[in-house]
Amino acid sequence: MSAIEKVSDLMAQYRAGYSLPGPLYYDQDVFDLEMKAIFGTQWLFACNECEVKEPGDYLTLELGRNSIIIVRDDNGEVTAWHNTCRHRGSRICQEHKGSVGRLVCPYHQWTYDLDGTLLAATQMPDDFDPKRYSLKPVHVCNVAGLVYICLAKEPPDLEHFKRTVSPYIIPHQPARTKVAFESVLIEKANWKLVIENNRECYHCAGNHPELLVSLVEAALPNDTRTHWFGDLMKRKGNEWDALGLPHQPVNGGIEFRCIRLPFNEGVTSMTMDGKPACKKLVGDLTERDLGSVRMFHVPNNWNHFLSDHIIHFRVIPRGPMETEVRTTWLVHEDAVEGWDYDVNRLAEVWQITNQQDQVLAEQNFLGVQSDAYEPGPYSPTGEFMILDFNRWYTTTMGEHLPPGAPGLRVAAE
Ligand code: FES
Ligand SMILES: [Fe+2]
Repeated sequence: MSAIEKVSDLMAQYRAGYSLPGPLYYDQDVFDLEMKAIFGTQWLFACNECEVKEPGDYLTLELGRNSIIIVRDDNGEVTAWHNTCRHRGSRICQEHKGSVGRLVCPYHQWTYDLDGTLLAATQMPDDFDPKRYSLKPVHVCNVAGLVYICLAKEPPDLEHFKRTVSPYIIPHQPARTKVAFESVLIEKANWKLVIENNRECYHCAGNHPELLVSLVEAALPNDTRTHWFGDLMKRKGNEWDALGLPHQPVNGGIEFRCIRLPFNEGVTSMTMDGKPACKKLVGDLTERDLGSVRMFHVPNNWNHFLSDHIIHFRVIPRGPMETEVRTTWLVHEDAVEGWDYDVNRLAEVWQITNQQDQVLAEQNFLGVQSDAYEPGPYSPTGEFMILDFNRWYTTTMGEHLPPGAPGLRVAAE
């Protein structure tokens, strides 16, 4: 059986409403197709644009065999390039972040402008045409300060997403922040289990006492399990309407979600005691009691936009069995550490929560590899967002299977 037949066969075993067949979580051929069909084709969250604030500021991102440079050019635009020299292919930027005037390959010093054009290459013949050797571009879309990249030649449309979520995010002005703290966890779990774990709060009561100081388990204003939450949502909704802050759930289909939800009564930030994390609010906000805008975009990004800080989460697979989860905590660019905020206090809740989630995802990953594992049913109320994710996943993978493959039947259901 060829790799594609195997993947197709596994996709055909998927039953909507149930967790995925085990090998879809750990099989190398499945992963190889995901790297093409998903991570090589879809828009991926890379960073906040404030991480490349000045021309020449860059950071790099590893996506399977590809390394990407995200750099601000001399016109102030955020651009992205393959971090592969057009001479003999060496990596150019070898640090994760830095600042440069030009992009100089360390091997033979081919030198590129920040717009990707080759400026200098010594010892090449007279008929050598540098215009033919620009860096290979990667698509970039800046969504209210959040930088998304896409490796596809023809990227899918991101305009609907951008137009829909921007009004929710713009009041928090992500571009006018700075990274106060960053954490990178390497989790021994398949990336889809990391996402699945994020897409439900069914596990919160049993695992996240620190997070639940602020977060309410209900994920929708009309969650019937918590009538008091509906009342709180109505009251806060009226206050937010008066401030001109959108809060209703958007229609992002199976690709994205965006909503502003209140925290528990009296709580204004995701701290251990629910009290502020930073004296200075982000953007030009004047009110603290704004809950958080929760925005998720397939396949690799979720965020919280609070009144006093922003948290971005970025998921990048490193193989079928290993996933990098990068979290950044951002505060107003003028906030002063030690005066406006304390880093430990700012990051504590989500650092603890991330570690708890790491254990959950890793134990889940061990379990799905057991001979005893068979796909189990999701809770329609507690895990409805995983149903959406799995529908997106099987549809997207199905589009990359050959015509007539059984996996396509799954995608069409
Ligand atoms: S490989 Fe980059 S200059 Fe030679
Ligand atoms: Fe969690």
